[in-house]
Amino acid sequence: MTATDPKLTQKKSAAKAALSHIEDGMILGVGTGSTVNCLIELLPKVRLKGAVASSQVTEDKLKALGIEIYDLNQLGVLDLYIDGADEIDAKGNMIKGGGGALTREKIVAAASNRFICMVDDSKIVNTLGKFPVAIEVLPQARSYVARELVAMGGDPVYREGFVTDYGNVILDTYDLDITDAAKMEFTLNNIVGVVCHGIFASQSADLMLKAGSTGVDTVVF
Ligand code: 5RP
Repeated sequence: MTATDPKLTQKKSAAKAALSHIEDGMILGVGTGSTVNCLIELLPKVRLKGAVASSQVTEDKLKALGIEIYDLNQLGVLDLYIDGADEIDAKGNMIKGGGGALTREKIVAAASNRFICMVDDSKIVNTLGKFPVAIEVLPQARSYVARELVAMGGDPVYREGFVTDYGNVILDTYDLDITDAAKMEFTLNNIVGVVCHGIFASQSADLMLKAGSTGVDTVVF
């Protein structure tokens, strides 16, 4: 992606719009990905008390800016979590996890009062599922979980050479029927060996900052 890439420009616009939702003295939940990287670059403009990072990559970037990192276990509920998404529907349900940070992202999102999702308009879908669902699996359960996914009509692809922050592996799964995101989230949660997966229906977005060619729209769910 080049500096003049229109998608990058849109990601930067969404990130700039997100800044106005951050209050002085906050401990902010910070997501992972190229859109969040645009936000991280802008964080020196606000007065955070600190941050909870959703991945090691994000943590390293925040530390490099001198932002204090908090362990979620030291804190109560966070006011705000800001992240991107791979797909988002009209109800704020999302597919996340393209970057493989889905489990930590879901934990920080679950521990936060509000989730603001920053997207460029290519991420908007009617029904989730064109983007594969990243399913984080305990290494020993990989083949078993893959067979279960195939039995459900899915097409799991092992993300070779990738290990999550928690030492697990990822099955990027195509062709799941996600017409009911909450139902599929629940079904996948119940497969033994699945640690977490990238359907965010229980942890859906509360607000979306959608960047397009004409500016950034705010959508409240
Ligand atoms: C990482 C994620 C990201 O939020 C998602 O992949 C979107 O990334 P980007 O902002 O680079 O398009 O879930 O695990």
